[in-house]
Amino acid sequence: MLKKIIIILAILGILISIYLGSIYLRPRQDSAPQGLPSYTASDLLNFNGVDPSKPILLALDGLVYDVTPGKEFYEVGGDYHDLAGKDSSALLHIAGGDIIKRKYKVIGIYKI
Ligand code: HEM
Repeated sequence: MLKKIIIILAILGILISIYLGSIYLRPRQDSAPQGLPSYTASDLLNFNGVDPSKPILLALDGLVYDVTPGKEFYEVGGDYHDLAGKDSSALLHIAGGDIIKRKYKVIGIYKI
């Protein structure tokens, strides 16, 4: 009986360690991954959704996001086309910034 309890506690301990490890050891999502390319304002202008063959990028809080998966919002005629190809932090602090941070991938660092 005691042996069974010890085995169950040991298994529980291992499962709890795996669970806590998966929470505290995973990379932070609010900082940029290492080694990403830098984009200036004029670099970003090339990715403003006008050329359908190129990705669509925007900068928010110093990071560059690839918003191509939501291109219906950012292509010419899209509701948020004016946010694309530039640092749109000021407007995105009013609305939409949270969606961008959760929905899209960081692909670069914005350099003024
Ligand atoms: C300062 C003004 C605003 C800014 C900068 C803004 C920006 C954004 C952004 C960046 C998104 C995310 C789009 C995406 O999924 O890629 C979004 C989503 C959306 N916005 Fe706005 N927005 C603004 C005002 C408004 C207003 C006034 C309305 C409605 C009358 C509105 C309705 C929506 C809706 C319905 C979505 C989709 C939400 C979803 O996918 O769950 N937005 N907005």
